Amino acid sequence: MPEQPKLAFIGGGTMAEALIKGLLNKGLFEPSAVLVSDPLQARLDFLHETYGIQTTMSNLLAVEADTVIFAVKPPQLPDVLREVGPHWRPTSMGLSIVAGFRLDQFAPFFPQGTPPLVRAMPNTPCVVGEGITAIAPNSDVDASQLDLARAIFRAVGEVLELPEHYFDAVTGLSGSGPAYVTLIIEALIEAGVQQGLPRRISRELVCQTVKGATMLVQQSGKHPAELKDQVTTPAGTTAAGLQVLEESAIRATLCRAVSAATERSKALGKG
Ligand SMILES: NC(=O)c1ccc[n+]([C@@H]2O[C@H](COP(=O)([O-])OP(=O)(O)OC[C@H]3O[C@@H](n4cnc5c(N)ncnc54)[C@H](OP(=O)(O)O)[C@@H]3O)[C@@H](O)[C@H]2O)c1
Repeated sequence: MPEQPKLAFIGGGTMAEALIKGLLNKGLFEPSAVLVSDPLQARLDFLHETYGIQTTMSNLLAVEADTVIFAVKPPQLPDVLREVGPHWRPTSMGLSIVAGFRLDQFAPFFPQGTPPLVRAMPNTPCVVGEGITAIAPNSDVDASQLDLARAIFRAVGEVLELPEHYFDAVTGLSGSGPAYVTLIIEALIEAGVQQGLPRRISRELVCQTVKGATMLVQQSGKHPAELKDQVTTPAGTTAAGLQVLEESAIRATLCRAVSAATERSKALGKG
């Protein structure tokens, strides 16, 4: 007889796997207490063999867990909720990482009343334990459930509890942000190659520079502009490079990118 799962995932894709890996590494759950449901048997076999967790193709088995994480793509969520909503145990907490789906949009799917729910917006660096996740609970979540939600996402990075009305901006900034930063990394690697550096060397220089600059901002507590000024000698090399970036309106471009992504998130939320 398999153990009653404490934590279940509906959807066993990329984000679910990142969370499973982090949670097991941190020892927050035993593998035997975690269940994943997904329609693809090959995916379930991989997750079972890699992490030793329980697997099923039945979402109804998943909702027997105390905490259920919705980790399907946004268009798949309404069908999942129609299926599991009528079978929900009222005390179980639902945790949704589905982009653009608001807490108030869950209510119609739960005929016995809205359960405790936490909305979360993680990002892809969760896969390497360096994510940042915004969380927002509904009013039915108690203190110990909120602690558990925080602990689950802390297993894969940092956690911020924020009012839900910030979530579109969070989606546009940290949700989509890893793609902006990797685009900049890609461009800088290419720039190094154009200046004659071997690609492998250019990649190493760029990755450590981005990581180091990030840590400098985080650990010094200084304003980024102050750190920039400290390395900008009058008429020096950095000043020459910065002038080109400013002429190219890099600040305004980044603002427009975040604004476009935020507007897109708002539009998706309106269905
Ligand atoms: N990746 C990110 O950076 C990121 C960041 C923040 C939030 N999110 C959110 O996280 C969620 C998951 O993203 P992801 O990147 O992990 O997606 P994903 O890799 O596509 O994972 C979704 C999984 O759910 C499965 N699935 C589909 N229909 C199902 C059903 N009815 N019942 C159970 N499982 C079902 C899919 O199987 P099939 O492949 O067979 O359809 C797939 O394995 C999304 O809602 C996304 O908005 C992602």
